Amino acid sequence: MCGIVGYTGPREAYPIVITGLKRLEYRGYDSTGVALLNGGLKVYKKKGRVADLEENVLGKDLHSNIGIGHTRWATHGEPSDRNAHPHTSGSGKLAMIHNGIIENYAQIKKELLNKGYHFTSDTDTEVLLNFIEDINKNNECNLEEAVRIALKRITGAYCILLIDEDDPETIIAARKGSPLVIGVGKGEHFLGSDASPMLEYTKEVVYVNDYELAIVRPDELILKNLGNEKVTPFVTKLDMELAAIEKGGYDHFMLKEIFEQPSTILDCLRGRLDANAGTITMSGVQKNIEALKSAHRIIIVACGTSWHAGLVAEYIIEELCRIPVEVEYASEFRYRNPVINKGDIIIAVSQSGETADTLVAIEKAKEQGAVIFGIVNAVGSSIARISDGGAYTHAGPEIGVASTKAFTGQLVVLTMMALKIAKEKGSISDERYRHLLQELADVPEKVAALLKNADDLKIIAEKYKDASDALFLGRGYNFPIALEGALKLKEISYIHAEGYPAAEMKHGPIALVTETLPVVFVATKDSYHEKIVSNIQEIKARKGKVIAIVSEGDEVIPGLADDVFFVPPADELVAPILSCVPLQLLSYYMGIVRGVDVDKPRNLAKSVTVE
Ligand code: G6P
Repeated sequence: MCGIVGYTGPREAYPIVITGLKRLEYRGYDSTGVALLNGGLKVYKKKGRVADLEENVLGKDLHSNIGIGHTRWATHGEPSDRNAHPHTSGSGKLAMIHNGIIENYAQIKKELLNKGYHFTSDTDTEVLLNFIEDINKNNECNLEEAVRIALKRITGAYCILLIDEDDPETIIAARKGSPLVIGVGKGEHFLGSDASPMLEYTKEVVYVNDYELAIVRPDELILKNLGNEKVTPFVTKLDMELAAIEKGGYDHFMLKEIFEQPSTILDCLRGRLDANAGTITMSGVQKNIEALKSAHRIIIVACGTSWHAGLVAEYIIEELCRIPVEVEYASEFRYRNPVINKGDIIIAVSQSGETADTLVAIEKAKEQGAVIFGIVNAVGSSIARISDGGAYTHAGPEIGVASTKAFTGQLVVLTMMALKIAKEKGSISDERYRHLLQELADVPEKVAALLKNADDLKIIAEKYKDASDALFLGRGYNFPIALEGALKLKEISYIHAEGYPAAEMKHGPIALVTETLPVVFVATKDSYHEKIVSNIQEIKARKGKVIAIVSEGDEVIPGLADDVFFVPPADELVAPILSCVPLQLLSYYMGIVRGVDVDKPRNLAKSVTVE
């Protein structure tokens, strides 16, 4: 959600900024803009894709050694050229881009209107910029000081980059709640919402913290807190190659990421799970093992697909560790004054590590003394950094807006974590523990095997492409997978879909069943098998169309269902890691036949950094 790029140094800034913005496209956006300094401030902005802006600036003089660029996801004011960033100040000398929301902007706008300021957009960003300029003019302080004063007065979230016509080598940047990474080059600096815009130039990066302000020049990076005290920049070495964020021959990032799962799951297990030795090595878990073993309750907070991973974990942790688990939408948890007791553990699950609701939820829980665990994919992200412990999912950069490989990574990490706690606690038998370790170790190969039949799902997608609605049903460990299957289909094909526990279907959704309604059953072989067979029969009796995800060797369901996809047999506890993959493919192919831009579906953002 909103991408930010900046450059200052000896190179041409425009191509760096534009390429960087393209790499951040996955975050979701509706308009694009850049500001350059070339004998004065030049701002180009356009509603639509980065490519639309590129077309719009053809033939213009884009020479500049400093630049800031932005992809906007509308919050205040419709997507339009006018509301796109960068915004310029009343004097026309300052340009600023902003990711986040200024909550008290209306009050500040009123004050500025009374002073005679005019606004050309509906955005909170233009208000903040003019507020900074106003302080700069009236308080006889320099721009850096004005930014600091302004930021202390505002409430909300922000990452801002600001350039000034009168200081043509400097970018002033600051963050609170929205990510900012600064790449350190030789005589040059790069800025981005994540590290992808700077990958080919430098591997040395600084993750800016909340309430920090950076003064960035080609050969100087000064970091300060809002109290004007210098902070030493902590330089981290990036462990990411350019190839990881490119499509590698696939038509879409989503497809590439689905097909990467055998290797991303292996990366997630690597160095942690040793089925032969019967060990799980997770240093973040080990460090806090006493707190985890004796936890009175585990509360999992997350949003979207990550919330579904949390639901699967609830079933697994309660089964193996006998610890009560609650799974909360972070957006609800943060506002509803939840009861957090001593001995409670909070697990935050997040691909991006930047989701605003999840981040604030754990900040609040931390204030109340809870121990926070982060299960995060993006290395160095905010959630990873504020957690007391945790584990990375190691799925690599996920670019497609719909989460796929990060989801299976979350399931693997949470399952390993549950097994480790259960083993330490003694709540699992040795035999079951060993069996499940082997089952987990076998997952990458099984995912690779089922991916070989991906074309079967293409045929199923073609058959049901005109459906207006779909139902997804599952029981037990596969119930959250039914929810995830429905979410994926909605996101990627725009078909209205709902997920339900299969038995709950009788309490409402069954009223929707007609000859044209596809009902997807996630029905791999498990202890609920006979029950779900009855549910399939109930749908068939009402002439619904059944698409079933079943285990190889199932002799019952294929005889009942209209369409079947087979996955390799697995223990019911690890089955969700397999059964979610065909549902990812089904929504991908549905999206493709229905002409959806699957990597960037409308209105969605990869990283939701506003609440
Ligand atoms: C957005 C994305 C989803 C993701 C959710 C939570 O809605 O489009 O794919 O599941 O945010 O994101 P997180 O990064 O916290 O997992």
